Amino acid sequence: MTQPSWLKNAVVYEVYPQTFLDTNGDGIGDLPGVIRKLDYIKSLNANAIWLNPCFVSPFQDAGYDVADYCKVAPRYGTNDDLKRLFDEAHRREMHVILDLVPGHTSLQHPWFLESQKGKDNPYGNFYIWTNGWGEKKGSYRFISGYGNRDGCFMINFFYCQPALNYGFAPADPEYPWQFPVDHPEVLKVREAMRNVMKFWLDMGCDGFRVDMAASLIRGENAAAGIRELWHDYRNWLDREYPEAVLISEWCNPSDAVDAGFHVDFMAHCGESGYTKLFRAEPERISNSPFAGGHSYFDLAGKGDAMPFLRQFQRHLKHLGNRGYVGLITGNHDIGRFRGGRTLEEMKPAMAFMLLLPGIPFIYAGDEIGMDNVFGLGNKEGSYNRSACRTPMQWDASGHAGFSSALPEKFYLPLDPSPLRPDAATQDQDPDSLLNFVRKLLKLRAICPAAGNDGDFRVLFGEENVYPVIYGRTAGDSWLMVAVNPGGESVKASFGLPGLRQYRVLSASPGVKLTAAEGAAEMEMPPASYAVYIR
Ligand code: GLC
Ligand code: CA
Repeated sequence: MTQPSWLKNAVVYEVYPQTFLDTNGDGIGDLPGVIRKLDYIKSLNANAIWLNPCFVSPFQDAGYDVADYCKVAPRYGTNDDLKRLFDEAHRREMHVILDLVPGHTSLQHPWFLESQKGKDNPYGNFYIWTNGWGEKKGSYRFISGYGNRDGCFMINFFYCQPALNYGFAPADPEYPWQFPVDHPEVLKVREAMRNVMKFWLDMGCDGFRVDMAASLIRGENAAAGIRELWHDYRNWLDREYPEAVLISEWCNPSDAVDAGFHVDFMAHCGESGYTKLFRAEPERISNSPFAGGHSYFDLAGKGDAMPFLRQFQRHLKHLGNRGYVGLITGNHDIGRFRGGRTLEEMKPAMAFMLLLPGIPFIYAGDEIGMDNVFGLGNKEGSYNRSACRTPMQWDASGHAGFSSALPEKFYLPLDPSPLRPDAATQDQDPDSLLNFVRKLLKLRAICPAAGNDGDFRVLFGEENVYPVIYGRTAGDSWLMVAVNPGGESVKASFGLPGLRQYRVLSASPGVKLTAAEGAAEMEMPPASYAVYIR
């Protein structure tokens, strides 16, 4: 298996198109807006964009309900605009990753419009239908009473997201509507999705973030089935598009890379560790079963970073050089990274996250510390996710530089806080969070130990203890990151063999490191961090 050569240095910026930048005054962000901000994204030292779904859709799940996989939604622009985005990104040595939603379509997709008419049409088996509306369904989620077809269709997420038919491993004879994964009808779906990928790759797209990637196949041996499916796609990509990346929303990097992905996220939807770092408090929207208790990055100082560190190290060891852990500051589904912290408290959190091995993903707005906006209700199936989907704050003006539309026409309202951060103001301030993020990401680019591949070791870390200190090396290059997010001053003694000279790249005032023969001692004031390099 091959790896796209650019992944070694990839730093990804997630763009939620509807609230990024509106260039035609309709209150909705658009592709020309993304193009206009490519230089800004590049200025962060990010070199790739993950663009959330921008395709024709009835927008009952904000675009994760696709009606035409091969056509840009008019509200975002045209296919030509997307092609221009690919070209403009490539001119800047950047990459564009599209969001592929292979598991389900909207109710408006022509495949579904045909399928719901009845069994006997070319798309009759594209979705998973029972043979009659009263038939046994097992524990799966089905919708009954929709359309003319006498049967119920299986769904993936919302009621309006009918599941495409990738088959069952194995098909259970008790449920005659289940097809095996190698059934010719099922293979048609697989090919249709391959053609979608081919369409965009041929236009210049650099790969896909794959929505709900682990759940396309069901049944007792689903895991083996899903591995076979993604290996099939990956082998094809390796042959035909070796520079294209496959990133999964699986939330288990070891399993996802074993299944053929290049990158998978540690995130809210997987094991407990990630949530416990930043989003354990129940009032911060987390959409995670592990919310509750205390975050490690909290002044209360009652959190635990070890679950994350143990899980992270286990994945690193399992992956070797076969794939990457994707490390998200946040995304469009979970509470903002900021989560009520002050901008100064964000620096330890950013230093910790952005210097880990793997591939960083910065959710647009996190680099300036945009916060959750609660109480916005539902927008296109967002529900509590509205809090993290508000318009990007570009400048200090009334419209925040997002759009010239009347504010009531904005896709979602701006953060009403008089203290809301913005990119233009922070750009001018050398000590801003924005410039801090730039500096950390620049370090990734110039210091091998800080890169995606360098090795990783916990130098000081214990259950429920502050601080956490980690080290990284690559050849001669060395890096150490220490964070004390808690509200108390702390001390740590730890072994540090072979360290002769080092320098402080950046540190909170009052942090003290004393390193002697093989041993080191650190003193850290509340909410502090330090980054050392050799
Ligand atoms: C993923 C997306 C989310 C969407 C869901 C259904 O989790 O990130 O936004 O609602 O899949 O497609
Ligand atoms: Ca617009």
